[in-house]
Amino acid sequence: MPTNEEFMAELEAREAKIKEMGGSEPVKKQHAQNKLTARERIDLLFDPGTFVETGMHVKHHCHSFGLDKTEIPADGVVTGYGKVNDRTVCCYAQDFTSRGGSLGEMHASKIARTMDLAAKMRVPMVGIQDTGGARIQEGVSALDGYGQIFHRNTLYSGIIPQITLSMGPCAGGAVYSPALTDWVFMVNGSSYMYVTGPDVVKAVMSEEVTHEQLGGAMTHNAKSGVAHFAYDSDAECIEGCKHLLTYLPRSVYDKPDSTYQEPTDSPDRTCPELDTIIPEDPRTVYDMKQIIRAIVDDGEFLEPHQHYALNMIVCFARFNGHVVGIIANQPSYMAGVLDINASDKAARFIRFCDAFNIPVVTLVDVPGYLPGTQQEFGGVIRHGAKILSAYSEATVPKITICTHKAYGGSEVSMCSRSVGADIYMAWPCAELAVMGAEGAAAIIFRRDIAKAPDPEAKRQEVAELYRKTFNNPYVAASGGYIDQIIKARDTRREIIVALESLLNKKEDRPWKKHGNIPL
Ligand code: HXC
Repeated sequence: MPTNEEFMAELEAREAKIKEMGGSEPVKKQHAQNKLTARERIDLLFDPGTFVETGMHVKHHCHSFGLDKTEIPADGVVTGYGKVNDRTVCCYAQDFTSRGGSLGEMHASKIARTMDLAAKMRVPMVGIQDTGGARIQEGVSALDGYGQIFHRNTLYSGIIPQITLSMGPCAGGAVYSPALTDWVFMVNGSSYMYVTGPDVVKAVMSEEVTHEQLGGAMTHNAKSGVAHFAYDSDAECIEGCKHLLTYLPRSVYDKPDSTYQEPTDSPDRTCPELDTIIPEDPRTVYDMKQIIRAIVDDGEFLEPHQHYALNMIVCFARFNGHVVGIIANQPSYMAGVLDINASDKAARFIRFCDAFNIPVVTLVDVPGYLPGTQQEFGGVIRHGAKILSAYSEATVPKITICTHKAYGGSEVSMCSRSVGADIYMAWPCAELAVMGAEGAAAIIFRRDIAKAPDPEAKRQEVAELYRKTFNNPYVAASGGYIDQIIKARDTRREIIVALESLLNKKEDRPWKKHGNIPL
């Protein structure tokens, strides 16, 4: 019978062996590729000394292709829970140094169990992916493992925030777990996500493309919109994830932590610089981010999708310490028009905020939906409808501020009163109308302009008449579509008053299984 000391020594020896992961050579190779190991990543993510590893001694059950003679430490994935910024988070990190972090039956079951634990604990789940995909030797058991994960990604969507850090190769079906999570982070030069890699693309499509072009961080951050954040190193990426977590509640049963960052910025602070931010010459533009920076606490906001659909801004920020999601048109890019990608970007963000009890503040300066065959053939009707659906469905506090233009269908889409804004404010220069004055006048006064001795002078005269009559906030306010007309300088203060009054808002919807958002 071994002594107690021997029992402990055996445990320590086993743990030490497992912590060596795939051994010194694969670890060296990992570092040479500018990648940290799974355990180094976990050390950076969690507050020191708080990570509890589960399933460390799990082994695979595969007997094919010599795998029965092979030990895969922790079966290629480190799982567990600990504290991030002093709040519990569950995590898995695939270990590429151990058989390429390939996913077999037990590897998958460790991940699935950790996801179940996160749901029971009601805390966020962070998945760090670095994998050669399904473990080829395990065949269909590996595919079933992926299915188990996708199923849980879906079941727990809207229950706990789910974050993927894609920090290495991630191919085939493996990309679908990230796609099912709320936020995808990538690292420039070392993470790749694609359904089929460059070799298959060449064979099937005769297209020559590099890993980076096909599925690198900027491809997914700027072109496909699959990823939300891009960083230059693993360490920065993990820091970015920790920063995002400060804005999120633990689960649907919780609210964002308003005490995380004690407010130092006065709720009564005015922003006089905003009184002149809207250019008087309609041909000049301004940057909506200047407005956001001016009104939020300490000028700080976190912007997912900052490289994608630049005509739409989505970001997290705080007002007097309260976390909000901001959705804003960007007039300095494509005049802030709504198109397919901007609609998808905004709708998904609104739905995330609503799912996790984060109030939404909408800043409106929008000329309309982008016309043309490219947009129509791409389904701008269906995609544009997503914003309407997302705002109408959202029951969190909704505050809208129209800074300038709000024309036509896009006026309705950008959280108008009709789709559920609780408080709608407008600046004195706001124009809520069916369309811009020039366009409107050219249609309804077409005959008068044609008959006039000086058509151009007539065009300007009738446009001015239309502008005075309709393109100001007072017509909309007289119809009750605007609650307050405020000076731009008071925007921060008025948002905080509205937000704090709405924090206990409760709005119910009739029971149904689920809606059918136009996907
Ligand atoms: C088993 C794998 C593996 C896999 C890598 N390895 N991928 N073992 N199954 N899927 C092993 C390698 O044999 C090697 O083992 C070690 O991991 C490191 O791999 P390398 O090839 O040396 O690394 P590198 O040169 O960096 O290349 C990385 C790679 C490449 C590009 C990811 O390994 C690769 O192409 N792997 C296969 C990718 C793939 O086709 N996966 C299946 C996708 S289909 P040793 O013993 O030498 O250290 C899929 C379906 C899921 O995932 C469907 C879900 C619905």
